[in-house]
Amino acid sequence: MALTRLACLLALLTVQCYVSILAVILKTANPSPWANEFDSIELSCLIQSISTTGPRIEWKKIKNAKTSYVYFENKISGDLENRAKIREPATLVILNATRLDTALYRCEVTAPEDSKNFDEIVINLTIRVKPVTPRCSVPTSVPVGKSAELTCVENEGSPKSRYQWFRNKEEIPMDPKSSPKFFNSSYMLNGETGVLKFSAVRKEDSGQYYCRAKNEAGVAECHPQMMEVYDLNVVGIVLGVLVVVVVLLCIIVGICCAYRRGFFASEKQTGSNYKAPGKADGVDYIRTDDEGDFKHKSSFVI
Ligand SMILES: *[C@@H]1O[C@H](CO)[C@@H](O)[C@H](O)[C@H]1NC(C)=O
Ligand SMILES: *[C@@H]1O[C@H](CO)[C@@H](O)[C@H](O)[C@H]1NC(C)=O
Ligand SMILES: *[C@@H]1O[C@H](CO)[C@@H](O)[C@H](O)[C@H]1NC(C)=O
Repeated sequence: MALTRLACLLALLTVQCYVSILAVILKTANPSPWANEFDSIELSCLIQSISTTGPRIEWKKIKNAKTSYVYFENKISGDLENRAKIREPATLVILNATRLDTALYRCEVTAPEDSKNFDEIVINLTIRVKPVTPRCSVPTSVPVGKSAELTCVENEGSPKSRYQWFRNKEEIPMDPKSSPKFFNSSYMLNGETGVLKFSAVRKEDSGQYYCRAKNEAGVAECHPQMMEVYDLNVVGIVLGVLVVVVVLLCIIVGICCAYRRGFFASEKQTGSNYKAPGKADGVDYIRTDDEGDFKHKSSFVI
């Protein structure tokens, strides 16, 4: 009884062993490789076991749910033509990667002489792109206590850039409370959108500001720009307004005095001699000095 069992077990093992010998099995050194744009990159497809000599090898690219051939009938085709080669046994090497090469790639090996005669492996390739110089906007002057928004954006980088802001070459911390220099500053900094927003600027917030866009492939910065914070001096403004009002009053009083003394009237009189008859009113007024004022007004009502 025990002997038959042993025999069975042996037979089973042999069959399994036999099957595993006659199977094509792939593996990869790196299922999700990445490279910077314009570098070369290897999509590793290794054959762990095979019995067939000269198996059929194909590579396909899968992007946006579309599948296209990259390596077919021993030739590189499609986008990668003249930019890629196969390294034995089945590894695909892209020589000058572009951002458009970011995709899934499937290595397929068909081995007709093996009992398990097909295997495939999927590689997720990411091509990283350095950020370009970000566009920065910094208000040139802001009154004390007002809000201010500084923006920074860059759209080339892949993966998406994150942002840092600097004031006078010193990095602005995410949390103002984490640094004594920025402790009382009222800003909020968003590293994902690049927005630096002050709810109420202080004198101490003035300075040269610039921003840095950063991802795994590199960094890029915009030129420093000055943000000035000026005092809205309330006392000064009130005094200024008062001075203007006093000056205006003086002018008005002066004009009234001159009017009372007949300075304008005499001028008008001389004018009325050779000008429009409408000015006769003024002539009336000077002749009848006592009731002139009244007459003058009533003529307007009529
Ligand atoms: C890589 O490709 C880019 C354009 O796709 C080209 O400008 C550059 O010269 C190429 N570099 C090499 C080393 O072939
Ligand atoms: C490929 O890798 C990137 C990160 O490197 C990931 O964001 C993406 O989801 C992966 N795609 C698939 C289909 O696994
Ligand atoms: C922050 O403000 C408080 C109170 O207004 C003041 O006592 C402190 O010295 C200020 N700290 C800095 C670093 O300016």
